[in-house]
Amino acid sequence: MIEAAGISKRYGRSLVVDDVDLELPASGLTAIIGPNGAGKSTLLSMIARLLPMDAGQARVAGLDVAKAPSDELARRLAILRQENVVVSRLTVRDLVGFGRFPHSRGRMSAADREKVEEAIGFLGLHEFAERFLDEMSGGQRQRAFVAMALAQDTDVILLDEPLNNLDIRHAVEIMRLMRRAADERGKTVVVVIHDINFAAAYADRIVAMKNGRIACQGPVREVVTEPIIGEIFGLAVIVREIDGQVTCLFQK
Ligand SMILES: Nc1ncnc2c1ncn2[C@@H]1O[C@H](COP(=O)(O)OP(=O)(O)OP(=O)(O)O)[C@@H](O)[C@H]1O
Ligand SMILES: [Mg+2]
Repeated sequence: MIEAAGISKRYGRSLVVDDVDLELPASGLTAIIGPNGAGKSTLLSMIARLLPMDAGQARVAGLDVAKAPSDELARRLAILRQENVVVSRLTVRDLVGFGRFPHSRGRMSAADREKVEEAIGFLGLHEFAERFLDEMSGGQRQRAFVAMALAQDTDVILLDEPLNNLDIRHAVEIMRLMRRAADERGKTVVVVIHDINFAAAYADRIVAMKNGRIACQGPVREVVTEPIIGEIFGLAVIVREIDGQVTCLFQK
């Protein structure tokens, strides 16, 4: 579903994404982890064509990312960016409605409206639907942006740090929602996430990046190990299985 070959990005003299190959099958939840500056957002942005690649190719749902018409790509792929510009005089419902634009081109059908309400409901935002974005807390606003990405109803969903600002219950709800999207609707979900325990609990596979490269990738149990996590973050870590769940503990 996502195939990237030899993708690179350079800023001046520094190669921030360095010849990355990535192949993710259709349906499933992949977590991308790695230190600040590892190249996670840059990689995701290139796959979504928000940034041009300096080398390499990417295909998403059979489309060549460099060449596909924008509206066609936007019907297959949705991306939540790490930082979102808040246009203050916009309500939650308006924002989520933007997610339908590739389908509706500005003329929302009843089916489009239904998708908007569904996404608002998934994120528990009904009570905020008419609220302006600048009248909401950081976490409430973050949920509205996730709802916009979901309303786009694409086969591929890329989320760059969707759990930013969220309390633990809402973080769990979003990860469960993504898990269900993969399991019940066959969506291909890629989530950049800093909390390794969240990644380990919900993802099928983990891609660990460091210095612009993929340092390691595979099923959770193959990546979340003491030597691998220790090496990627330069930190002593203890990995234990608690109730069948791989869990990292960090030394004090
Ligand atoms: N526009 C830019 N100009 C120059 N350097 C940039 C630019 N954007 C990103 N970088 C550099 O590219 C590298 C990768 O950045 P990127 O945002 O992809 O990291 P990341 O893995 O998403 O980190 P974080 O966990 O902090 O979000 C960083 O060293 C960053 O400083
Ligand atoms: Mg980032």
